[in-house]
Amino acid sequence: MDSSEPLLEPPLPAMQAKAPSASTSVLAHFMGIGDSNASQHVHGGTIMKLVDEAAGLAGVRHSHSRVVTASIDRMSFLVPIEIGELVTFTATVNAAWRTSMEVGVRVVAESPRAAISRLASTAYLTMVAVDEQGHPVPVPPLVPETPDEHRRMREAELRRSHRLAERVAIERGRQQTG
Ligand SMILES: CC(C)(COP(=O)(O)OP(=O)(O)OC[C@H]1O[C@@H](n2cnc3c(N)ncnc32)[C@H](O)[C@@H]1OP(=O)(O)O)[C@@H](O)C(=O)NCCC(=O)NCCS
Repeated sequence: MDSSEPLLEPPLPAMQAKAPSASTSVLAHFMGIGDSNASQHVHGGTIMKLVDEAAGLAGVRHSHSRVVTASIDRMSFLVPIEIGELVTFTATVNAAWRTSMEVGVRVVAESPRAAISRLASTAYLTMVAVDEQGHPVPVPPLVPETPDEHRRMREAELRRSHRLAERVAIERGRQQTG
């Protein structure tokens, strides 16, 4: 490789609108014995941690700032994952609002010996961009390009309205109980 060749594409200006694909982040983890639960399958907590890490990376790629997880919803475990499988976590920003983003994560388990892969889990997380003091900061707009990206953004808007209604209800309950 030519030593003057840059290793990465030059970064886009921080607040420039970006396509969802610019945030796509992939983590792969080979599930070993340390990842197992009592029934010799992969521990759900291991999957949740890696889902959160992949979503965080997608959020950082979109926002170019620190992010925190505000909520995780609709995490479904579709099939058990076995020890010895290679599990891939693919995270993409579905929608971006003022300081928060919804990130969708797909978890695919692959049995390398049998050459079989299957969708094992999906999740939606809300990540909030924060400054060094942990205060929310604005994120760039998201510009969907493909029909699937437009659909995901519409669906994310619906989920956000449910989340915000739930947040209001929790806050009201908190005020009533003092
Ligand atoms: C998430 C957090 C930064 C929000 O701070 P806040 O003072 O409530 O700020 P705001 O009310 O201005 O909300 C900021 C954004 O977060 C969103 N948000 C806050 N709580 C949310 C929740 N439970 N679910 C979804 N979105 C949420 C708001 O809708 C808002 O989005 P918008 O700016 O795009 O409209 C704060 O609650 C926090 O730091 N929580 C702890 C996070 C954490 O420790 N995570 C685990 C480890 S990373």
